[in-house]
Amino acid sequence: MLNGKTALVTGGSRGIGRAVAWKLASLGADIAVIYAGNQEAAEAVCRDIQAQHGVRALAYQCNVADFTEVKQTVNRVKADFGTVHILVNNAGITRDGLAATMWERDFDDVLAVNLKGAFNMIRHCSGLFLRNRGGAIVNVSSVTGLMGNAGQANYAASKAGIIGLTKSVARELAPRGVTCNAVAPGFIDTDMTKELHDSPLAAAIPLGRMGTPEEVAEAVAYLATASYVTGEVLRVDGGIAM
Ligand code: NAI
Repeated sequence: MLNGKTALVTGGSRGIGRAVAWKLASLGADIAVIYAGNQEAAEAVCRDIQAQHGVRALAYQCNVADFTEVKQTVNRVKADFGTVHILVNNAGITRDGLAATMWERDFDDVLAVNLKGAFNMIRHCSGLFLRNRGGAIVNVSSVTGLMGNAGQANYAASKAGIIGLTKSVARELAPRGVTCNAVAPGFIDTDMTKELHDSPLAAAIPLGRMGTPEEVAEAVAYLATASYVTGEVLRVDGGIAM
């Protein structure tokens, strides 16, 4: 289905990003994994993907918050793979705290990685999409961006921002055949949420359990391949934000 296509996945060395890289590779796409710091994990993901799915997979260290670094990295991916057909903006961090006492640094860092990081990638990949007269962007938002969450004003603002970014880019690039959508995961079992297992929020999930990274990856793969869906925000949350 995606044979001959290249997918770039940020934060692809673990959690949801790794599951997305794996899923898109299972559909035949070559994979560029962007990672922040853990080279060993990123290279292990690439080795496993190549061995299992027979596609090309390469890892690139890049801080998505850095405009120039992203530009250089997209150029390296272009040199290695020729172009990018699918961009998945998955890299994200949390620095939780109440807004009344939150450190300025924690607000800025979360916005820089989660929101500006997605912008940086879109900004530097758009030329490739325009040249290809097609492409798909999938941004990872969160139900927190839809509902808000006490203790996560910075994170919720970044994830709500992702939705505005998604819909604006969807409108800008639709005439050129490029789609831009978002997934809004609920509580997904990853390193980011390891302390949430016993939280009352987890108990309020209608489907009665946390989600898996693979369940989010299914939705990302759908949006990456759906030809007549753009500007959509697809919740993958067991019903918690309905
Ligand atoms: P995780 O913490 O396991 O993975 C995050 C990934 O982002 C890591 O690979 C990390 O290296 C990468 N990353 C962080 N900062 C980066 C930077 N500056 N440059 C490049 N890469 C960077 O988290 P998880 O749970 O897999 O989350 C993935 C995405 O899903 C995030 O955007 C997160 O906000 C979102 N999400 C997660 C939910 C959950 O319940 N786990 C729920 C809703 C959204």
